[in-house]
Amino acid sequence: MFERDLLKGKVALITGGGTGIGFNIGKRYGELGASIAICGRRENVLAEAVSRFSEAGITADYHRCDVRDPAQVSETIDHFLDKFGGIDILVNNAAGNFVSPTERLSPHAFDAVLGIVLHGTIYMTLDLGKKWIKTGRHGVVLDIVTTYAWTGSGYVVPSAAAKAGVLALVRSLAVEWAKYGIRHVAIAPGPFPTEATRKNLFPIPQIEERIVQRVPLKRPGRMDEIADLAAYLVSDQAEYMNGSVVTIDGGEWLKGAGQFNHLEDLTEEQWKIIYETSRKKD
Ligand code: HXC
Ligand code: NAP
Repeated sequence: MFERDLLKGKVALITGGGTGIGFNIGKRYGELGASIAICGRRENVLAEAVSRFSEAGITADYHRCDVRDPAQVSETIDHFLDKFGGIDILVNNAAGNFVSPTERLSPHAFDAVLGIVLHGTIYMTLDLGKKWIKTGRHGVVLDIVTTYAWTGSGYVVPSAAAKAGVLALVRSLAVEWAKYGIRHVAIAPGPFPTEATRKNLFPIPQIEERIVQRVPLKRPGRMDEIADLAAYLVSDQAEYMNGSVVTIDGGEWLKGAGQFNHLEDLTEEQWKIIYETSRKKD
């Protein structure tokens, strides 16, 4: 889909890049010529990911980091700046999430998710942003949100509140930091099943089946689809994309929004009755 050297010479730091969507974005960026820096909490997961990148001929490095700790965030960024001589792309992808009735959650459960998603994104963006501004280097920040960042959603309330905050950050800094040559963009994915979603969000298969049934295209997203979008958005060819959130969900959230969309469940017989009734002269 792209020129092979679309991201040649770029360095991309991807939080939570050892697994799932973050790993697949890293792989695509690497195939397009970027060097990949990943961080997360589990060293074994990160080391395994880096060896998979290396096998694919991609230059990559990892550093352990809990994004909830600003000191670790700053130290991680300095580690990669030293290693690669600069960072051009930041992908705030790390997240924590689980389904639960909200009244069963403790303050600590809220803190855990908000800490990773909202504070982690802020700490990364703030530390790297300051370093970019100080050195006059341009950069692009891509934040992975969700469609319920703007619709809200029951049963994932800490995540919904945190992702809404991240979206506000994207739209605010897109304006404020444009003067420094720093762009902000976001992707809102629909269902892209990963090990983590199966463990924390779809622990009973019925949840995943119902979510996929809600998608007008009747299938989950594929990793290559989100990775290609992520590559376009951070490339120099997308230089005029700033403050945008791009939805990639097969039409899922719009289906929930349109008042009559549930008519898709009507039978031919029911449509026949509707046709005849609505044309009847009084
Ligand atoms: C209720 C829970 C819980 C659960 C943890 N807690 N899991 N409460 N239901 N399933 C509570 C704990 O009881 C504790 O509160 C508090 O949360 C912190 O838990 P810890 O295990 O100590 O926290 P920590 O080790 O920091 O783990 C963070 C985590 C975990 C979020 C809880 O799940 C995690 O690290 N996840 C990372 C991977 C992940 O979630 N990926 C999903 C991204 S997918 P108390 O009060 O008991 O101390 C995504 C997609 C959205 O976002 C859209 C899908 C279609
Ligand atoms: P995932 O595999 O669990 O990815 C999350 C990553 O974040 C993991 O590698 C995890 O590694 C890391 N992480 C978690 N807590 C961290 C912390 N405190 N510090 C540093 N790293 C941390 O989940 P995914 O499904 O690929 O999701 C990736 C992104 O897409 C998330 O932002 C998610 O909200 C978003 N999203 C996903 C879907 C979907 O259907 N998959 C839909 C909408 C949005 P460690 O545990 O080792 O730290």
